[in-house]
Amino acid sequence: TPQAIDAALLLDWYDRHHRDLPWRVSPPMALRGAIANPYHVWLSEVMLQQTTVQAVKAYFEKFLALWPTVEDLAAAATEDVMKAWAGLGYYARARNLKKCAETVAREHGGRFPDSEEGLKALPGIGDYTAAAIAAIAFNRRSAVLDGNVERVISRLYAIETPLPAAKPEMRALVYSLTPADRPGDFAQAMMDLGATICTPKRPACALCPFRGNCRALAVADPETFPRKAAR
Ligand code: ADE
Repeated sequence: TPQAIDAALLLDWYDRHHRDLPWRVSPPMALRGAIANPYHVWLSEVMLQQTTVQAVKAYFEKFLALWPTVEDLAAAATEDVMKAWAGLGYYARARNLKKCAETVAREHGGRFPDSEEGLKALPGIGDYTAAAIAAIAFNRRSAVLDGNVERVISRLYAIETPLPAAKPEMRALVYSLTPADRPGDFAQAMMDLGATICTPKRPACALCPFRGNCRALAVADPETFPRKAAR
């Protein structure tokens, strides 16, 4: 059975070490008592689906300057949206972005649905993006599992099953760890931990808030997780 891991350790770390990114509220939501703008969260999560944080920053700022609200984006010419997207790649994302903005503006009165199910019904929003928006923009408990989070979870629990077979188990574990009071901060804290401490190579375990609870650190070389399927 999984050992007890205390999400509060990670949230304390996040309050001190979170990355300041343009789509986040800063300081983190529980400190400021506010949650992020759903339009900002949605736009950033769609951009981040296949693009790095570093590359997304400038595009995110540019889109908000051109189209400050989801209604503005819905009213934009598709050609202008495609032009603004140029360089980010995976252009189906830009087409879905425009369609999604139109749906939210016309069918939802400009407000994003606040549940995973409602979000998943929108163009371009799959399991990961729906879970991320529900947590970060609406403070809903959900299982937010991206590549960084998979690595963190695989190490915390020393999961021997390789990816992708381990995903359902990982999803259940990350959900069980997610605290009811700050699910959005928790999700982003896991991403930041994976990006800055629990890195693929040479993780900085001495600086990790979970160093006392990590099974991989206790039993083996953390770098060997997640396990890879024999090929
Ligand atoms: N990657 C995907 N979503 C992210 C977020 N909200 N913060 C940092 N990295 C991310």
